[in-house]
Amino acid sequence: MTLLRLQHILSIEVAKRPFISRPPEPPSEVLINDPLQSIFIGTTKIFRVPFSWTFSNLANPHIAVVGITGAGKSYFVKTLLIRASYIWNTNAIIIDWTGEYKPWVQQSGGVVISFAKGDYMNILDLAGTKPLDRVKQIMTSFDILTDISAYPEQRRLTEEAIEQCYTNLGFIVSAPPPEGKEAPTLKNAISLLEEKLQEGTYEYPAELENAIYRLRQFAREGEDYFARKSTLDIGKISESGLVDIDLSGLPDENFRTLAALFILQTLKEKMRTEKIGEAPGLKAMVVLDEAWKVASNEKSDAIMIVREGRKYQFGLIVASQNPTDIHEAIYSNVGTNFILRIKYEKFLNFLQGSLNFSNFIRSEIGKLGVGQAAVYMLFRTAIRFPETFLLEKIHGEEPLYVYTIDFSDVLTQSELSANIIQKDYQFEQGELRNNLIEVNISADVIEGLFKMMDSKSRNVKATDFINELRMRDVPVQSMISFLKSLSLDDTLITRIISRK
Ligand SMILES: Nc1ncnc2c1ncn2[C@@H]1O[C@H](COP(=O)(O)OP(=O)(O)OP(=O)(O)O)[C@@H](O)[C@H]1O
Ligand SMILES: [Mg+2]
Repeated sequence: MTLLRLQHILSIEVAKRPFISRPPEPPSEVLINDPLQSIFIGTTKIFRVPFSWTFSNLANPHIAVVGITGAGKSYFVKTLLIRASYIWNTNAIIIDWTGEYKPWVQQSGGVVISFAKGDYMNILDLAGTKPLDRVKQIMTSFDILTDISAYPEQRRLTEEAIEQCYTNLGFIVSAPPPEGKEAPTLKNAISLLEEKLQEGTYEYPAELENAIYRLRQFAREGEDYFARKSTLDIGKISESGLVDIDLSGLPDENFRTLAALFILQTLKEKMRTEKIGEAPGLKAMVVLDEAWKVASNEKSDAIMIVREGRKYQFGLIVASQNPTDIHEAIYSNVGTNFILRIKYEKFLNFLQGSLNFSNFIRSEIGKLGVGQAAVYMLFRTAIRFPETFLLEKIHGEEPLYVYTIDFSDVLTQSELSANIIQKDYQFEQGELRNNLIEVNISADVIEGLFKMMDSKSRNVKATDFINELRMRDVPVQSMISFLKSLSLDDTLITRIISRK
């Protein structure tokens, strides 16, 4: 009997004990947020909670995304930008190193700035900044890009010449510029230095020559992308919806870095003129994808945006295959880290060291599939749950699939060489589906048709397309109506239909 009682007491004791193990995911109050003020990302892996992102309880709105090539970094960034624009009307500026966002931005109705296609950006443009501040910023860019800081005399000559360009045009260097007044260019600064050299009175002509040489790198005919009047209003890029700055056409890394630094400087200045915190949400998100020279340098304004962005509602997104390329001051301060698949032990060590997640999470990160992620959030207040959790999958926007019907196999040699008839037609998936429905083709047939086209990388010859319809007993009238909807002329339609 005593034994029974003892057991009874013991079981009560056991029942009263709180769990001492930590839960594997943050509580749902943290993961599930107001759908009108947060961005749906995906479902958590363990408890299948729908996670939506907001920075209202996080240290700041900045995001780092890391993962091996093909892990899904850019896909995630695109998803986030689109949803932020729906929810908060957030503007986006993508500093696009390799041009990988360009087709998507074009399809989404955004603006693409492409230096290979005749766009210029005058790095002496002020966009409201005092000339003296701009001169300092330009010199900082040169410090990052070149070894000019090891040559104080050349540095001083360059700085002086740029400053003088502004004075020569009537700018007051310590005052905000008058609206609309046109800025000088680097070519003006080069001319000033050249004049000085020709005067022949300067004590160290070799220094002068070297200073000129350095500036000329950015002003050569055909490569003077930053030394001519701008083709865009750089002051407006943070309020122009979706903007892709495609740097892939620039000659080398130095040019790309100079452009990125200049854009960040301008955005930082612009950010500081914003009114502080009225509406929720984000006014702008700046994306740096694979811009390691910019993200890793402590002098770059990426760090200033991280430090001050929250109060001005400016967010920075840094994406990289290599987490050690992101400066410590950025990496350890961003409010959210999305960690996609990482293979290298070295990188896993770095991540675990800075974010302090468990060995379980570490081993999961090595096994993640495309679009799967571990998420780390830095909260504003102390928390009692794990900061890192796993997402089953980043639930993105459906990509646009383009289908091509190639008519070159039904055109005659002379039609082909005359080049007057359109050779191929491209359709977005939904558009082609609608066109087929409109000519009374049944849903089953349409499904089969898409399967056939998918198996041919979404590119089919007109004959194969029509044969497929014929095989599925689609009436000739439907085929004709479909071809007519492409505005093909009657003789061509007859030729296609009668061909076996
Ligand atoms: N969450 C996802 N759901 C469905 N498809 C995805 C997802 N994430 C990525 N993908 C697909 O995987 C491919 C690679 O993704 P993405 O281009 O984003 O990789 P990345 O990490 O940016 O690679 P890189 O470092 O080479 O730029 C793309 O075709 C993309 O559509
Ligand atoms: Mg990418």
